[in-house]
Amino acid sequence: LAGGGAEADLAGRHVVVSAGGTREPLDPVRFLGNRSSGKQGYALARTAAARGARVTLIAANAALPDPAGVDVVPVGTAVQLREAVLKAAADADAVVMAAAVADFRPATYAAGKIKKKDGLEPEPITLVRNPDILAEIAGDRPRAGQVVVGFAAETDDVLANGRAKLERKGCDLLVVNEVGERKTFGAEENEAVVLGSDGSETPVPHGPKEALADIVWNLVSRRLA
Ligand code: CTP
Ligand code: CA
Repeated sequence: LAGGGAEADLAGRHVVVSAGGTREPLDPVRFLGNRSSGKQGYALARTAAARGARVTLIAANAALPDPAGVDVVPVGTAVQLREAVLKAAADADAVVMAAAVADFRPATYAAGKIKKKDGLEPEPITLVRNPDILAEIAGDRPRAGQVVVGFAAETDDVLANGRAKLERKGCDLLVVNEVGERKTFGAEENEAVVLGSDGSETPVPHGPKEALADIVWNLVSRRLA
């Protein structure tokens, strides 16, 4: 086991992990998206499986191979991600939202490809808000005692922003990454602090995404015990 120490401490548990980034279509060939690679979510799925959990990985547009022994549910949009997470969360012991969910989606979808019009400037794109999946699950847990974990990328006062977000979302743990040039998106390594609703702060030194994943499962496992 990588870093975790405990042996199959998640055996008999069902965990749900979301990974990747949602894509919000404008027309059949275009979408609004983000740069999330899915690597952190896939690392969480692999490490949970290695620790004995049954794992459902809700994968939003991640171009990564399915981890062995993991039930992978592919999705595209935030609305599809919500449906899949809520369904899988019904009997889950833990839900970890590592996916980058688009905050907004285009208000309308054009069934045909949007074309240029001679001499005219383009129409502005109107956006509407997507559902907040993490806040919804944390606020109305599908199962008593379920542990709910969020991820946040922050700049400026990273800890204060993270603490405020943890409270706003109502989750048990929030993994806060500091973003900046060359940090986090698409990288093989990660550095973070995990904030707990009990006031705890667990620093995660710079290292592989598996090491961060194992620390998250250590904290989840302690809360499930
Ligand atoms: N999240 C979610 N549904 C959304 C947006 C975010 O479930 N519509 C989850 C993400 O998967 C992540 C956590 O919420 O685990 C924090 O995402 P983040 O984008 O940092 O939070 P927001 O509330 O969208 O705040 P911000 O305005 O800073 O983007
Ligand atoms: Ca957001």
